[in-house]
Amino acid sequence: MPYEDGNAVAPPPGGIPELRGILAAVGKTPLIALERLRPDLPVKLYAKTERFNPGGSVKDRSALGMVRGAIRQGRLVPGRSTVIESSSGNLAIGLAQICAYFDLRLVCVVDARTTQQNISILRAYGAEVEVVTDPDPATGELLPMRLRRVAELLAETPDAYWPDQYANPLNRQAHLTTMREISEALDGRVDHLILAAGTGGTLGGCAEFIRQSGMDTTVHAVDAVGSVLFGKGRSCKRLVPGHGASVVPRLLRPADADHVVHVTDLDCVLGCRRLVRREAILAGGSSGAVVSALDRVAERLEPGSNVVLILPDGGDRYLDTIYDDAWVRRHFGDVALPQLAVSTGELVDIGRG
Ligand SMILES: Cc1ncc(COP(=O)(O)O)c(C=O)c1O
Repeated sequence: MPYEDGNAVAPPPGGIPELRGILAAVGKTPLIALERLRPDLPVKLYAKTERFNPGGSVKDRSALGMVRGAIRQGRLVPGRSTVIESSSGNLAIGLAQICAYFDLRLVCVVDARTTQQNISILRAYGAEVEVVTDPDPATGELLPMRLRRVAELLAETPDAYWPDQYANPLNRQAHLTTMREISEALDGRVDHLILAAGTGGTLGGCAEFIRQSGMDTTVHAVDAVGSVLFGKGRSCKRLVPGHGASVVPRLLRPADADHVVHVTDLDCVLGCRRLVRREAILAGGSSGAVVSALDRVAERLEPGSNVVLILPDGGDRYLDTIYDDAWVRRHFGDVALPQLAVSTGELVDIGRG
């Protein structure tokens, strides 16, 4: 990759926009030493806390990378073009922030499951929100209808661009920075990295940096029980958004992970509750997944090793679910909260890429 931001395409004449203003605040998130989560483990444990990105999640990096890359390629013109994306969560919020900065119109196609809070955040940034309510008659799923609406909007809107985070290599490249920051903070010694996988962007970018720098890091990818990301089992309903997917993204390269851990929705809740109770870190659902995965890989961690957990977002957007006892009891029965039991998913070795 010949250019400084990992982009294979040359900058347009006149250059690409510099990272100024709020854009300069994306990344450089804190790496926090965790001394209370698993004091029984003979390792040094750290959390890369992505909630401290200005839009509140790891997806600020992807949104910035994809929009800036498209501007660089001449596919988006600030002040004139429209970004159209099917996303209702962190990527949508990240895009809303970046598009507002670049004076780009953003249309987010969401579905009826999107929280009112997220819709309000998107509108506050100036994004337009289209809600798809009717499922695809053939499959009963909402996603195909969202994608159909994106296709219609792209066809009818001049100067429109679809970032398509599930296939866009700029999403992966954006996470070279995530791993570079972790590596720099630990003088290049990262023995284990535990991260949640959805589009495969975080996984791909971190694995790429590890390969490029010749680091000896074991990457543990965390997927959801009921997700098809790593070709295991059939897709089924999941409650916790972020990690996992019902179709395999074009971006995902399974060999980027050395191991895959599957966790349940309840694992996520218990992981989140334990993290806030032990470390006073209020984190989102996929962070709970990563905390639960740590228990699963604990036996593999060599004494003295540096172990890094990537925590993709904060808990504020999960107050009505993960941090609401009534919601937890409605979905999981009368579990003891916070329950400190080690959860029971499987560890799958899939070889090194
Ligand atoms: C909260 C959360 N966790 C995990 C992920 C997965 O990250 P990636 O898409 O980089 O695989 C996402 C992606 O949107 C997310 O929003």
